[in-house]
Amino acid sequence: MGLFTVTKKATTPFEGQKPGTSGLRKKVTVFQQPHYLQNFVQSTFNALPADQVKGATIVVSGDGRYFSKDAVQIITKMAAANEVRRVWVGLNSLMSTPAVSAVIRERIGADGSKATGAFILTASHNPGGPTEDFGIKYNMGNGGPAPESVTDKIFSNTTTISEYLISEDLPDVDISVVGVTSFSGPEGPFDVDVFDSSVDYIKLMKTIFDFEAIKKLLTSPKFTFCYDALHGVAGAYAKHIFVEELGADEGSLLNCVPKEDFGGGHPDPNLTYAKELVERMGLGKSSSNVEPPEFGAAADGDADRNMILGKRFFVTPSDSVAIIAANAVQSIPYFASGLKGVARSMPTSAALDVVAKNLNLKFFEVPTGWKFFGNLMDAGMCSICGEESFGTGSDHIREKDGIWAVLAWLSIIAFKNKDNLGGDKLVTVEDIVRQHWATYGRHYYTRYDYENVDAGAAKELMANLVSMQSSLSDVNKLIKEIRSDVSEVVAADEFEYKDPVDGSVSKHQGIRYLFGDGSRLVFRLSGTGSVGATIRVYIEQYEKDSSKTGRDSQDALAPLVDVALKLSKMQEYTGRSAPTVIT
Ligand code: G6P
Ligand code: ZN
Repeated sequence: MGLFTVTKKATTPFEGQKPGTSGLRKKVTVFQQPHYLQNFVQSTFNALPADQVKGATIVVSGDGRYFSKDAVQIITKMAAANEVRRVWVGLNSLMSTPAVSAVIRERIGADGSKATGAFILTASHNPGGPTEDFGIKYNMGNGGPAPESVTDKIFSNTTTISEYLISEDLPDVDISVVGVTSFSGPEGPFDVDVFDSSVDYIKLMKTIFDFEAIKKLLTSPKFTFCYDALHGVAGAYAKHIFVEELGADEGSLLNCVPKEDFGGGHPDPNLTYAKELVERMGLGKSSSNVEPPEFGAAADGDADRNMILGKRFFVTPSDSVAIIAANAVQSIPYFASGLKGVARSMPTSAALDVVAKNLNLKFFEVPTGWKFFGNLMDAGMCSICGEESFGTGSDHIREKDGIWAVLAWLSIIAFKNKDNLGGDKLVTVEDIVRQHWATYGRHYYTRYDYENVDAGAAKELMANLVSMQSSLSDVNKLIKEIRSDVSEVVAADEFEYKDPVDGSVSKHQGIRYLFGDGSRLVFRLSGTGSVGATIRVYIEQYEKDSSKTGRDSQDALAPLVDVALKLSKMQEYTGRSAPTVIT
């Protein structure tokens, strides 16, 4: 048993350590500055109640991006010095964000211990590598991201910090081997427990889904499947779940070896960045005559996001959550006794609203950011939720869950084909979506992203959109000049949310223009970028008439897109004639 001592290090504050929507995200080179990570970690320890530090069990892991391995060792040494009792580390520092949430909520250590929180080392869907992004966020005992009251405290601590504690003589722990290493410090024992979290994660998935039914589908010769981890942490789970447990072919896994730089790619599961999968699914530009698989899905770096594709068919995330909610009770054992409620983020399309109304379910519209769902779930008010930003999940944990979403879709497809796997024609992803539109109507939807825009220009553009809201008649005059074929704006505001559980109010959560026919334009600044500003424009139009739900989405939305770009003076403010990404 190694002995260690505790050193008090003098430090001075760094500017800008304010955690955003999902923690602190900066370039790796920023994190590599002496004391930078240490200041943030100590500020976090100082923001937590003492009993969640002293004697506590804390998880430290992430998506495996560049600098994670160094960060794990630094945080471990600081945890020991701050009298944390033990840290739990994922094998090779890998643990998906949903798996961290599951581990906090479910795992019981060999000595009966339970975790009270986690440092998650990820910048989610941002690229990784020595010149790219690193990130860190803290999750609490419920398995969800720290609430604003805690992140505000962390930030305020970073502005006054003058010292941190570290056990410099604690040897580095070999995180490539499973096992517990024990040490002894001035205040008692300290353990580092390295384990493979896929075991705990799969155990949880088995309590939610009917693995036998999914296996039947995945092993049926009629069904073909493809999963792309984009070299993120989902790769550490994919083989175990899809191949070993569910019988998928090993060749159905794409980019499933986790890499520190995600193979040089952008680990964001959308039609722009998941290029290889998009090609394979027949949605790309190549004219390959290989028949695409029936089902395809991708994950982001930390495996909380998902993209769902059918053969030559894209499922929008807004439709995906609505379809999962509409089919959950019949298809997924965990929901067999009914849904407590459903929720979506404000910019997500209203497809879920229609399902909620039809099925008489409690419904909530919350600001962007998963933590708002967590509150509803802790209060037993919400079972399924989703966001347009490729996030879908349920109250089994307090993060969105990319692999859960895939298993949910596979469950629905298995259910729709349960008497049919020997028959002629498979009910496909496309069939399921078109059937949904025919029943509930279709929300045509697209999002335009302008990445890395000058921050000042982005602010001015947003300010102009807010100031225009004071005169809707002027707005409507302008719109008529741009396009005479869109309906009138009947209301416009900045979205504000009062949390029904804790009463807290979140203001300035996105600028909305609401049209008479139910169409919406929403403008927001991203809270997850690391350089400049990203402007997001969300464009949505509802079509109830089932004979008109089959149009190409960009065609159907062209008039509204035109209005959105001219109304906001996008090109004037940003100098951009086209968005960086369209989803
Ligand atoms: C993270 C959060 C999501 C949120 C998204 C928004 O992924 O976990 O809950 O929807 O950020 O990102 P944005 O860049 O639009 O602020
Ligand atoms: Zn993510």
